[in-house]
Amino acid sequence: MIIREVTVDDGKWMYDTRNQPHIVEQSLNSNSFSYQSHQQWLSNVLTDSCKLLLVGEVEGERAGVVRFDINNTVSTVSIYLSHEFLGNGHGTCLLKQATAYMASLFTNVDVIRAEVLKKNQPSMHMFEKCGYQIFFSYEHHVEYRVKVSV
Ligand SMILES: CC(C)(COP(=O)(O)OP(=O)(O)OC[C@H]1O[C@@H](n2cnc3c(N)ncnc32)[C@H](O)[C@@H]1OP(=O)(O)O)[C@@H](O)C(=O)NCCC(=O)NCCS
Repeated sequence: MIIREVTVDDGKWMYDTRNQPHIVEQSLNSNSFSYQSHQQWLSNVLTDSCKLLLVGEVEGERAGVVRFDINNTVSTVSIYLSHEFLGNGHGTCLLKQATAYMASLFTNVDVIRAEVLKKNQPSMHMFEKCGYQIFFSYEHHVEYRVKVSV
């Protein structure tokens, strides 16, 4: 898998992918949004120095997206894969490679957190395989945390 930073040219693909049912179902915020508001959101993210948006490509095809929201030493991660790449270890690979990329740019980050719905077993499994542990359990979701290893 190759990791690179998202550009505006990825906007349409991201919008279509983000609206795939398996992703909407597992989102903490499952509100729908227009293409125009998505593009506005994307251009804000791309100019925000505290956010990092990465795309993972497999054999030249865009497979998934990882976003890091950085707040001093804590980074919040979210991740999704397009449906045709599910269930083959690509999520784990993308998370690991994207984390290494983020850590090389944001050397002050020492903790990464993620919020995952309890019904989202593949995602919980993926985060645990990457060393994340449950930090807090809410009614419907858990907060995972991992220390960034240097
Ligand atoms: C979360 C996501 C990125 C994982 O990607 P993936 O490539 O399917 O995951 P991986 O194959 O790397 O790992 C998933 C693990 O969960 C396991 N798994 C799959 N379905 C499972 C289930 N129903 N119950 C328990 N474990 C399950 C897999 O076997 C795999 O473990 P293994 O490698 O030990 O066999 C992907 O499912 C996705 O995009 N989901 C929709 C968006 C989402 O949920 N994002 C996370 C919210 S932050």
